[in-house]
Formats: sequence, structure tokens, C-alpha cells
Amino acid sequence: MTTKNVNRVALIGAGSVGSSYAFAMLNQAVTEEFVIIDLNEGKAMGDAMDLNHGKVFAPNPTKTWYGQYDDCKDADIVCICAGANQKPGETRLDLVKKNLSIFHTIVTNVMASGFNGIFLVATNPVDILTYATWKFSGLPKERVIGSGTILDSGRFRYMLGEYFEVAPSNIHATIIGEHGDTELPVWSHATVGGVPVLEMMKQRPDYKLEDLDEIFTNVRDAAYHIIEKKGATYYGIAMGLTRITKAILNNENSIMTVSAYLDGEYNTEDVYIGVPAVINRNGIRNVVEVSLNAEETEQFNYSARVLKDILEQNFE
Ligand code: 2OP
Repeated sequence: MTTKNVNRVALIGAGSVGSSYAFAMLNQAVTEEFVIIDLNEGKAMGDAMDLNHGKVFAPNPTKTWYGQYDDCKDADIVCICAGANQKPGETRLDLVKKNLSIFHTIVTNVMASGFNGIFLVATNPVDILTYATWKFSGLPKERVIGSGTILDSGRFRYMLGEYFEVAPSNIHATIIGEHGDTELPVWSHATVGGVPVLEMMKQRPDYKLEDLDEIFTNVRDAAYHIIEKKGATYYGIAMGLTRITKAILNNENSIMTVSAYLDGEYNTEDVYIGVPAVINRNGIRNVVEVSLNAEETEQFNYSARVLKDILEQNFE
């Protein structure tokens, strides 16, 4: 960790997700310094210019520039959004091969700068690429974090909020597991203003249990629906990344579902996967172990198995 007194965040990859992250970061004035790095220097340079022109309208001016890997040396956080993204019909896991080799180059270059901060990974398949970043960087597991299921939990809270007609901030409900097709809802601990969702369902005759299945299916398949309509998803994930960045820089000890390394928690080992975790200035302080029911445990184990199979095919 650096000793300087301003926070610096470096973004690698100024595609739709990266640029939306930059936009959200500047609008919320999360950090003093923000550097944009992309193979396409014109895009990085153009984004820096464009963002700087709006700085006067932000709560605080963020020093923003387009840079090089050397600028990562003094970064507190390097957020990686670079890589190929899903084409219509592709799953997140279809991207493994392409993005692993891109990540090898990126992480090696960042580490060669002398970087000693926290990696935040957004590129899909995020659980696999977060593991790759941990392996390639040699950093402690606590300092490599993936966006995991933060967005899925956000979607879940939003859709439950719409259903029960309450603000999503009053819904406590999480999606865990792979950020992808095998993720699962933790219904056993989902609450609305402290009332368990399963109890809420008894309060009105028009609430039907199958509605809950439909809500989860819509959460799980949300990215497919958006990709079908506009080719990619970027605003939601960018806002989630901004939220994680804030929790780190402000030393919040906030709990969010991110991709964290499991070393025995949830009876699982050697995998990065979406679970609730306490986030602060040191990265992941600890994984929060929610007591899952039998069905949830089975689904979680399956999701972890799917990720581990891919890791076994790609790492020794
Ligand atoms: C999303 O869930 C595609 O992972 C991206 O929006």
C-alpha cells in the first residue's frame, strides 16, 4: 500500500464498462486521481478530455488523465475492465480462453510498474479472471477482488423492491455463486424491512410463490436480455464497481457480494466465487458465512464445482 496522501485509481480498459465506471467515479468524486489506460490510446485520451470538461459540474474535481502502466505504481486500486465481451448467445464462460491471455499481459505489466495495491476485476468470466489475477500477480488473496455477484444482488433487490413496492435499499437479499448461469438466490435470508420474504408472501392473496421463481430467473438472465436489446451491459456494473471502490477507499467495512477467494469458508477451497464479504481499506477483511439451507448448499456447491472445473482445465 502506498503512503502518499491522495487516492489514485487506475482503470485498465476504456470500453463501455470502463468508461461508464470512469463517469460514475467522477460524478461521485470517489478518488482524487483517476488514470485511464487502454491499448487504444486515442480512446483513453478522448475519455480523459471528455471527462475533464465535465469536472466543474462534479462535487469535487478528480484529477483525470490518460496514462501508461507506469502510472499504476502509485495506484491504490487498479480496476480491470479490459477484454472481450459476450456476443449475443455467448455465455460468460465462453470468454475464458480469450480473456485469460489478455489478463496475463495486463497483470504482468501492472505488477512490473511496482504496483502494491488492490486489484478490482470486472471482466467476464469474472470469477475465473479474478482467480487469474490473484495467480498472475502474486498478491495476497485479500487484495484481489472481483465484482462477483454485486450486480446480481443489486438486480435482485431492485426487482424485489418493485414487487413489494418498497425502496431497494430496504430489501436485504443476496445472490451468491458464479456470476453467471449457476448463481443462486439466498431466499432463506432474504428480508423486506426485517420481515422474511417467505413471511411477506403470506401477507397478500395476490402474492404467489411462483412469482419469486420468476424474479430470480429475470435476475439470472438479465444480462442476456440487455445484450439482446443493446449489445452489452455497462451502467449497472459500473455503478457496482464504483460502490466497491468507495468501500475500499473509505475503509467502510461494508458487506457486499463480491468474488472472494475461499479457503475453507462454505466448505469450499481454492476458488474465487460470489459471497458476502466485508470490504475495507485492506480489501477483503473476511468472507461472511451465511448459514445456507440444504437446497442452497447444494446449489452453491454445484456453482463452485463448475468454476473449479474451469480452473482445473486452465491452471495447474
Ligand atoms: C452483466 O451481468 C454481462 O456480466 C455482465 O451485466
